[in-house]
Amino acid sequence: MLKFIRTLFYIFTGFLVYQIVIRIIRKNFHFPAPAFFGSVLDSNCRRTLQSAKELVERSGIQSGMEVAEVGCGSGAYTLHVAEKIGPEGKVYAIDIQQKMLDQLQNKMDKHKVKNIEPIKANAYELPFTDSSLDLVYLVTVLQEIPNRSQALAEIRRVLRPGGIIAVSEFLPDPDYPLLSTTKKQLKKAGFAIDAAEGNFWTYTVRGVKE
Ligand SMILES: C[S@@+](CC[C@H](N)C(=O)[O-])C[C@H]1O[C@@H](n2cnc3c(N)ncnc32)[C@H](O)[C@@H]1O
Repeated sequence: MLKFIRTLFYIFTGFLVYQIVIRIIRKNFHFPAPAFFGSVLDSNCRRTLQSAKELVERSGIQSGMEVAEVGCGSGAYTLHVAEKIGPEGKVYAIDIQQKMLDQLQNKMDKHKVKNIEPIKANAYELPFTDSSLDLVYLVTVLQEIPNRSQALAEIRRVLRPGGIIAVSEFLPDPDYPLLSTTKKQLKKAGFAIDAAEGNFWTYTVRGVKE
């Protein structure tokens, strides 16, 4: 029993030290999550801790929608979203790093997925016309973007009236913000908060373009 408690203590202390060190580094140096981290991001272990099914449900993703994932990374959730959306819908998977998109493309080829289009682009300048998308979602990305207001304004531009922005966060992510922070950022960008679901460990906030 004592051994178990000691192990738990070491795990907790290790996690705390990791969080403190990595957050200090992230505060001073802005860089996107490195592409070699792609396999850690897209792992069953990660999806056990941040469920794909819950993320899709909480984001309000429905069959037939036309959606964009901003900061798709290696595609940890992209294929799950594509499956939910089905052949009538489409997922535009946006990332600034080609090496992340290459990892997603490999998975698409392996699983013969046709309704995802990987696009190398920046959140500040999305390759869509005004009011053209049903939904834009971001998973552990928003806080990684230095000018969040600019990115949110750009997302608002491409969403149709009534369109949804869904922001999901995950506590182990070194950029994790409190739920109240995410809500404040969405409201400031002109979104009405529609729902906030989940818990301190992982949550999703949905905003609506009115
Ligand atoms: C922490 S990773 C998360 C990836 C994926 N959403 C996930 O949950 O596994 C953040 C991703 O956002 C991308 N990213 C960062 N800033 C971006 C920007 N301004 N525009 C588009 N993508 C960006 C990074 O390249 C990286 O792949």
